[in-house]
Amino acid sequence: MPQRSDAEATTTHADVSAAAVAEAAAWLRAGGLVAFPTETVYGLGADATQPEAVARIFEAKGRPRFNPLIAHVADTETARAHAAFDSRADALAAAFWPGPLTLVLPRSAHCGVAKLASAGLPSLAVRVPAHPVAQRLLRALGRPVVAPSANASGRLSPTTAEHVRHSLGARVDMILDGGPCAVGVESTILDLTRTPAVILRHGGISREALAEVIGAPEDATAAPADRPSAPGQLASHYAPGLPLRLNAREVRPDEGLLAFGADEPGGAALTHNLSPAGDLREAAANLFAHLHALDRPDLAGIAVVPIPAEGLGAAINDRLRRAAAPRPASSGGT
Ligand code: TXA
Ligand code: MG
Repeated sequence: MPQRSDAEATTTHADVSAAAVAEAAAWLRAGGLVAFPTETVYGLGADATQPEAVARIFEAKGRPRFNPLIAHVADTETARAHAAFDSRADALAAAFWPGPLTLVLPRSAHCGVAKLASAGLPSLAVRVPAHPVAQRLLRALGRPVVAPSANASGRLSPTTAEHVRHSLGARVDMILDGGPCAVGVESTILDLTRTPAVILRHGGISREALAEVIGAPEDATAAPADRPSAPGQLASHYAPGLPLRLNAREVRPDEGLLAFGADEPGGAALTHNLSPAGDLREAAANLFAHLHALDRPDLAGIAVVPIPAEGLGAAINDRLRRAAAPRPASSGGT
């Protein structure tokens, strides 16, 4: 890991040096967090291929839950390695990348982005940012970078390095100061896993501009008030097929067990331990992969041991409660 010193933690010039970009890439490679400018807002970046680095993002933001994250890549070719493009995605990428458009696409068979970053979903949100500093960072690292807006949860999105310092301060390893963001609002998010395409969030590319390329998309944000409209809610997060039983102290022989810590109850048909060492960051990194592994038709259900509530435990418990909640009846009823 590079050594952090307060004097070096923040670059101070809009002209970011090659050395600063190399240092930022080194932080990312080492599993650290780097705030960097994009043309929309500053992002809080982590190496998308390292689950524990991704978990650290949620920790730093103090996010109450695991919203799926956007994977940033240097070019369309790299995006294709991680997500499955159709002809609409081809046309939109050609028209708007690099730029403030995020495409939600099926994860490719060889997708290298951690499952935690897509909150266990079979889809991946991907974008090619235009900001030169973001471009240089992505090329220096040579891997996708997941980055939510670099603000503490519930705070305004940062459009200057000073905003980031104020909101996240010591919770990031390094801030690359590329000056104020030109666009200033987040990217438009377009869901291409559906036909017609659906706008999940309005942003830097207008609906009209999208319509010129692929025809008029639907607008999920215009849903009636009694239906969820925030992107985080619309992204129906991964829900296991099996029922979940929370706070289990013992397990039945026909159940799978999601364990945590050293003393796991014995007797399960199959056990996956989120972190035998009791480390919540490791547990967050493993959560969706372990849920997937336990979600098998030959089991009757998944028993989950109590998970501590502090730190990332809050987000883990939130996710587990949602996964255990009764499922809403599928739409179409009265
Ligand atoms: O302009 C931007 O998009 C900025 C810069 C840093 O790139 N990033 C940003 O990220 O705004 P964030 O995490 O604040 O917002 C990402 C949104 C979330 O609302 C999330 O629910 C949605 O993208 N999202 C991510 N992956 C998704 C997926 N697979 N399906 C549906 N929605 C997804
Ligand atoms: Mg945000």
